[in-house]
Amino acid sequence: SGFPSRLRNGLSKLGIPHDILEALFNWTGANEGYPKIPEAKGAVNAIRSEAFFLPLYELYLTYGGIFRLTFGPKSFLIVSDPSMAKHILKDNSKGYSKGILAEILEFVMGKGLIPADGEIWRVRRRAIVPALHQKYVAAMIDLFGKATDRLCKKLDTAASEGEDAEMESLFSRLTLDVIGKAVFNYDFDSLTNDTGIVEAVYTVLREAEDRSVAPIPVWEIPIWKDISPRLKKVNAALKLINDTLDDLIAICKRMVDEEELQFHEEYMNEQDPSILHFLLASGDDVSSKQLRDDLMTMLIAGHETSAAVLTWTFYLLSKEPAVLSKLQDEVDSILGDRFPTIGDMKKLKYTARVINESLRLYPQPPVLIRRSLEDDVLGKYPIKRGEDIFISVWNLHHSPHIWDDADKFNPERWPLDGPNPNETNQDYCYLPFGGGPRKCVGDMFATFENIVAVAMLVRQFNFQMALGAPQVEMTTGATIHTTNGLRMTVTRRIKPPIMPVLKEDASVGSSFNGDT
Ligand code: HEM
Repeated sequence: SGFPSRLRNGLSKLGIPHDILEALFNWTGANEGYPKIPEAKGAVNAIRSEAFFLPLYELYLTYGGIFRLTFGPKSFLIVSDPSMAKHILKDNSKGYSKGILAEILEFVMGKGLIPADGEIWRVRRRAIVPALHQKYVAAMIDLFGKATDRLCKKLDTAASEGEDAEMESLFSRLTLDVIGKAVFNYDFDSLTNDTGIVEAVYTVLREAEDRSVAPIPVWEIPIWKDISPRLKKVNAALKLINDTLDDLIAICKRMVDEEELQFHEEYMNEQDPSILHFLLASGDDVSSKQLRDDLMTMLIAGHETSAAVLTWTFYLLSKEPAVLSKLQDEVDSILGDRFPTIGDMKKLKYTARVINESLRLYPQPPVLIRRSLEDDVLGKYPIKRGEDIFISVWNLHHSPHIWDDADKFNPERWPLDGPNPNETNQDYCYLPFGGGPRKCVGDMFATFENIVAVAMLVRQFNFQMALGAPQVEMTTGATIHTTNGLRMTVTRRIKPPIMPVLKEDASVGSSFNGDT
């Protein structure tokens, strides 16, 4: 504080615009009392590379928990400090919007829950959170099991025919099937079906990802919109998805109208336990455009993220056979041959730790995007209104200042008798589902979906990188993808037979068993 800042506050109260004050005080040097945010110079090209969060990690090691990255007229603040992340996401969350993210995703998510800000967000969040109540998630376990079982059958065929499996695309299909059914009771059946609506979903997803990394927003150029074959295809896909969603909403409305059931907190229709059904039955007063935006948002949020988590989990497991066999031991002893139940979710502790650790090494998404709505202070640095901010979860999760052996896949770092790690008990060093009021609404859903899938798959199969498989490298859209897929050799597990006593050990064995 001191005289300059009191003078500045006084002038500001007199109504002198912010920009003018800024110029004035920069000129008088009155801002010099504040530390200046480090600027990452000459790093402009770095961000162009494929997985853009990797050069940001190098810059973090050089410049620290907050630095500015400038290219051309644009500049970003990169935040990799847990207490600053906590400030932005939780303590002063009202001071930040989704900024660029909302702009990029508008064409597909509209004003859905992820991009929405302000009053729309508040209202929609209050409507949607109850739809994911405990009883709903419990009812989903069966759905997760059935969908995973379909994948198991497919892998079983591949195993017997000696064919490798491209696991990344299979996981994407598994989680699309799950989320379609869970959110609006639609069976994509994408594990067997590849055309029409499934293709449309992938067209739109690819477009969203391309836009989020595109240097120039060509889709905003008026004539381009009408002549680009690619944009035409995207628009056709969007129309197909929207029409399908409208149909599903109409069907569900009719079901709800015919229902006798009274709505209450844990309301659920057994034939259709979907989120859509809950929202309609709750009498949620919402336009069908908004409802569609929210369904689409959940479809994308719940599909891509879980697929990426499974992909990287299996990649990590293929590199650590000891972890895989420990995991298989747990699953054998707890599940045996059954389908998983809600009761198993608490018992499959090591399985959960494997997924926690996978989410640490490969956070989905690797950065959270915000824009400051007012002037604020991050740590010791004042920042202005309108700053675009990337919170690098990747950097937090890989920081050598926070983690021992940060790059090692070590599920044992999370003790089995300890709490399930989350942003609160890890003090914003670990943000698998974000934090604060905008934390993921699907965290429990996703955790159980992943536990069921991992447990059922490793119970039945061993997974290894296929011979001659392409090198696994990262690229980004909204989540971390591989550049060339995850090609694995899947073999049926042979349950460990009762070991026959070896000749050399025969005497030991017989003396214990009393055999002759
Ligand atoms: C938000 C991660 C699965 C729905 C978020 C955020 C993260 C995240 C980090 C915060 C974004 C931010 O602050 O900018 C994940 C991961 C998942 C997953 C890693 C899977 C492993 C799901 C599922 C659903 C879902 C299955 C839907 C059923 C949402 C929604 C939001 C969100 C609607 C926005 C919440 C809001 O802004 O109020 N997710 N998510 N997510 N997620 Fe998830």
